[in-house]
Amino acid sequence: MARKRVAILISGRGSNMVALIEAAKDSRYPAEIVLVVSNEPAAEGLTRAAASGIETAVVDHRPFGRDREAFERALQDRLAAHRIELVCLAGFMRLLTPWFVRQWEGRLLNIHPALLPAFKGLDTHARALKAGVKEHGATVHFVVPEMDSGPIVAQAAVPVRDGDTEQSLAARVLEVEHRIYPEALKLVAEGRV
Ligand code: GRF
Repeated sequence: MARKRVAILISGRGSNMVALIEAAKDSRYPAEIVLVVSNEPAAEGLTRAAASGIETAVVDHRPFGRDREAFERALQDRLAAHRIELVCLAGFMRLLTPWFVRQWEGRLLNIHPALLPAFKGLDTHARALKAGVKEHGATVHFVVPEMDSGPIVAQAAVPVRDGDTEQSLAARVLEVEHRIYPEALKLVAEGRV
């Protein structure tokens, strides 16, 4: 079966992107990463993608001001030009409109650094520590118009330890993120979800 053509959308560091790129280097992996798009021209992940020989593009949201759909149409044009079949959000810090999300229904994944439905939104690690939860983790889910709410594809838990800081907890969660995102994309690309 042909490998699914995947684009990864990033805004920053791109460590989850790297995990997906690494997994897809195996020719038996059911997806290939053909494009990385960042809305931030200075995103570190762009350099890392280029170093792996992946085509990169910048679609800066700023020139579009408040017109989110215009930004997304520019994004959509890039994805269409590369005949993209699946999109992975990996630290992509823009909210997407229902218009965009509907175009990609069932073909758009996100990774969230918490055990959804707990701790939707930002600053998940600080909030988990404040709440005193004993387990925290990460979730890969399909994107729906409502933020951090779509059907869950994969999830992994980590313990919260006494003395954890936001940084130590984030690092523990990030390790499982890098494991479950490639697993989740594999399942989706194989049509097993
Ligand atoms: C990750 O923790 C991811 O779950 C969240 O943003 C962070 C991105 O990190 N959505 P990276 O850019 O993949 O290193």
